[in-house]
Amino acid sequence: MVQSRGNWSGTLGFVLAAMGSAVGLGNVWRFSYITGEYGGAAFILVYLGCVVAVAIPIMIAELLIGRRTQRNVVGAFSTLRPGTPWFLAGWLGVTVGFVLLSYYSVVGGWVLHYISLAILDGFAGQSTAAIGQLFQSLSANQALQVFWHAVFMTATIWFVSRGVSGGIEWGNRIMMPALFFMLCFLLVYALTTDGAAEGIAFLLTPDWDKISPKAVLEALGQAFFSLSVGMGTLITYGSYLQRDARLPRSALFVTASDTGIAILAGFVIFPLVFTFQLEPNAGPALIFETLPAAFGQLPFGQFLAVLFFLLLTFAALSSAMPLLEVVVAYFVDEKGWTRMQASWIMGGIIFALGVPSALNGGFFGFIDMLTTNWLLPLGGLFVAIFAGWSLTHQERQAEIPASDLRPVLYLGWVFLLRFVAPIAVTVILLQSIGLF
Ligand code: TRP
Repeated sequence: MVQSRGNWSGTLGFVLAAMGSAVGLGNVWRFSYITGEYGGAAFILVYLGCVVAVAIPIMIAELLIGRRTQRNVVGAFSTLRPGTPWFLAGWLGVTVGFVLLSYYSVVGGWVLHYISLAILDGFAGQSTAAIGQLFQSLSANQALQVFWHAVFMTATIWFVSRGVSGGIEWGNRIMMPALFFMLCFLLVYALTTDGAAEGIAFLLTPDWDKISPKAVLEALGQAFFSLSVGMGTLITYGSYLQRDARLPRSALFVTASDTGIAILAGFVIFPLVFTFQLEPNAGPALIFETLPAAFGQLPFGQFLAVLFFLLLTFAALSSAMPLLEVVVAYFVDEKGWTRMQASWIMGGIIFALGVPSALNGGFFGFIDMLTTNWLLPLGGLFVAIFAGWSLTHQERQAEIPASDLRPVLYLGWVFLLRFVAPIAVTVILLQSIGLF
């Protein structure tokens, strides 16, 4: 059984795949739009706090559960604690994967649409207003959004139906570094524009008045979303991971790169926001209003725009694939479906589920808020309680020996899992519905 699941080709393959899942629309599109909405620097600090104190400990716990059981999310919980309701936590993960992917694919579709816009006429010589108009007309065109959503989802299904190593590992080695270098290049340009000083100040000068309970909830949700934590994806990933891989080290590496890329993207976007005199709180449209305007000014802008949106599509696909993988692994392992069946049937249902998000911005916002701010933290809460309280020291240390995590750090990790993460998540969720 272990063999038929396939394995990553070594720890590097796993780390790249986990990075592929973490780095996606969350880093470029969502991070900048949420950071813009909640006022910049102070929000980023709260976000970083959530990453370190809540998301990293839970990420390590998910990897541990996955590698220990070699199962999918639902199977993992019922293998470790048979006959208890813990398997429901796994169910939550599968359900969240469904819902999250449905609207993620809609955004993936927007990116595809921008590739086509870039190919057709580039963005050269267009006013900022005309570029803003491009997004407005996409939002108003329901058929077009559903079309691109279908294209994105079909690509995702196709890759997943071909299996883990073939489907996911393949492009990560080239595309992720390429996206990184492209962002670095754009950073150099952004820092030479007129809005650079204002953009940097926005990202580095905290204004604590802007931090409301709602902002803290968004920071928490974004930490889960960006790191792909809270729905058991990493349980599935851990289950393909070889015995000699060091979990804490891998988790740190994935987190550092994911966070680094988000912040890098911020330093590209916000100088441009001020340069083109846009509002930081433009919402989900933010990157689609700023980046094309920048490409319009750059030499070889059309080529760069096509390249950038292609790389972003790849990053989005390498996040969408593991989302579908969680669902598919469950149906393959627990229900005996073939990978082909599970990918196309479940992928088709997810596509249908995404259609309302493509048709209606309000619904889109609702699903975005529900999954990211509520369901992911809730899933994370269960994992933290499970790994912190239900698992024994022996069970944890079998996967994370002292050679991988020094005893002091191990105790610190367990403390975060037992107390800090559950309390923080509970307080933030309750506070945001006004219970305090
Ligand atoms: N982290 C991904 C991104 O930033 C989105 C995501 C959230 C995800 N949860 C996931 C991807 C689970 C894969 C698996 O774009």
